[in-house]
Amino acid sequence: MTSSQKARSSPSRRTVVAAAGVAGLTATLAACGSDDSGGDTGSSGSTGKGGSSDRSAKKGPLASTSDIPEGGGKIFADEQVVVTQPTKGDFKAFSTSCTHRGCAVSSVSDGTINCPCHGSKFSIEDGSVKHAPATQPLPGREIKVSGGSISLA
Ligand code: FES
Repeated sequence: MTSSQKARSSPSRRTVVAAAGVAGLTATLAACGSDDSGGDTGSSGSTGKGGSSDRSAKKGPLASTSDIPEGGGKIFADEQVVVTQPTKGDFKAFSTSCTHRGCAVSSVSDGTINCPCHGSKFSIEDGSVKHAPATQPLPGREIKVSGGSISLA
């Protein structure tokens, strides 16, 4: 029985070294973790697209009444408002944001405000839906008409 005892010291030494390394790492992590744990709760899922809906805070003259065709309207994209004149001297204003999926309406023709995305049409008189797929009217916008000029209220 000449058992050849091999030196088993090397695995145990490796274990000691590994253990020391883990201990050191743990200490380092603990130190870092205690500094700023849970500081960032920003999981709001924002895509960075948005925030453009309040650009309409601008006041002042939007147009002159003569800019708005009778029986039609004009889109002011920057202000996100469409101004119409269903009948002479009667001005209305609506949001340009289509109630179907939020595209900006792009034209006014034949008594309707038209969305290019899926074909919704809205009345120039009251913003009501004249053609699906939208089911909700365009929200009205407040305007002031005085002295031949139109401004956002
Ligand atoms: S977003 Fe206007 S019709 Fe769909």
